[in-house]
Amino acid sequence: MKWQTDASPNIALIKYMGKQDYDSNLPANASLSYTLSDLKTVVELESTTENSDRWEALHDKNLAYIPKLDAEEQQRFLRHLQMLKKYFNYQGNFIVRSANSFPAGCGIASSASSFAALTLCAVKALQELTGQKIQDVAVIADLSRRGSGSSCRSLFGPWVLWEGDKVKQLELPYFKLLHQVVVVSSHKKQVSSSEAHKRVKTSLLYEGRTQRAEKRLEELFTAFTHKDWSLAADIVWQEFWDMHVLFETSYPPFGYMESNSLIVLDYVRALWEAEKDGPITTMDAGPNVHLLYRQDQEEMAKKVRSDLSSQFSLL
Ligand code: DP6
Repeated sequence: MKWQTDASPNIALIKYMGKQDYDSNLPANASLSYTLSDLKTVVELESTTENSDRWEALHDKNLAYIPKLDAEEQQRFLRHLQMLKKYFNYQGNFIVRSANSFPAGCGIASSASSFAALTLCAVKALQELTGQKIQDVAVIADLSRRGSGSSCRSLFGPWVLWEGDKVKQLELPYFKLLHQVVVVSSHKKQVSSSEAHKRVKTSLLYEGRTQRAEKRLEELFTAFTHKDWSLAADIVWQEFWDMHVLFETSYPPFGYMESNSLIVLDYVRALWEAEKDGPITTMDAGPNVHLLYRQDQEEMAKKVRSDLSSQFSLL
């Protein structure tokens, strides 16, 4: 028997960076994300009589990016499946297959969509195989969070608030945004997000991080509620820089920013200065730059694509 599910990544505007509890991925601060419904990870599960679970790439002509999970990443994915099997008290095994519609492991939140898709697919399979039902999506989000924190936000959308062990959809203006990723590099990152969560605590600037994130979250709500796009863009800009500065001031320091990321950021800044308007800009734990536009900025999004596409690929 086979089951298939997909889930989209989400981009955090207020970042989850630093954990209160590493085993259950409880965050140090609340985060706010926008779900990127044009991108997806597909996970397929097939029940097998083999004596253990295993992962392999899913080959599907509609999914351009076949992930190359190293042994450790495969183990992490399979450990999450094993936790879900235990929850359902199920003894059988599965072949797990996955693929993405976008490059993985470079700051486009593939761990969020992969773990959300795996959780949804496993819950679907295990409900059918065991006859047990999970009625509440909050329980599924809780299970998904244990695999990878940010994945709990991918079960909702588009606007999602995650606070402690609670995650919920929010009604905010700008329901339908246009999203672009300027792909500066699609190489796999050297330091994983999970490692980054630990390392940032060694930065002398970590003190006050929780308060700064919470304050920005409040300010961002207010900006969105008053439809103050420009203020929202400033807050989101400050927030991603805060996180990247923590990376560079950790022991040992590490970073994801590349010279080409700075070229894109400079371009966006010049655009804002010239037009007195522009996209909300953010970066995750990777060198790639995410741009979010309002519906009425469609022409601007096209211009940005044509200006940047000779140098970078854009998703
Ligand atoms: C920079 O969810 O990947 O993307 O819980 O260890 O799996 P784990 O970490 P992960 O961290 C994501 C960090 C981030 C910011 C964010 O998505 O909020």
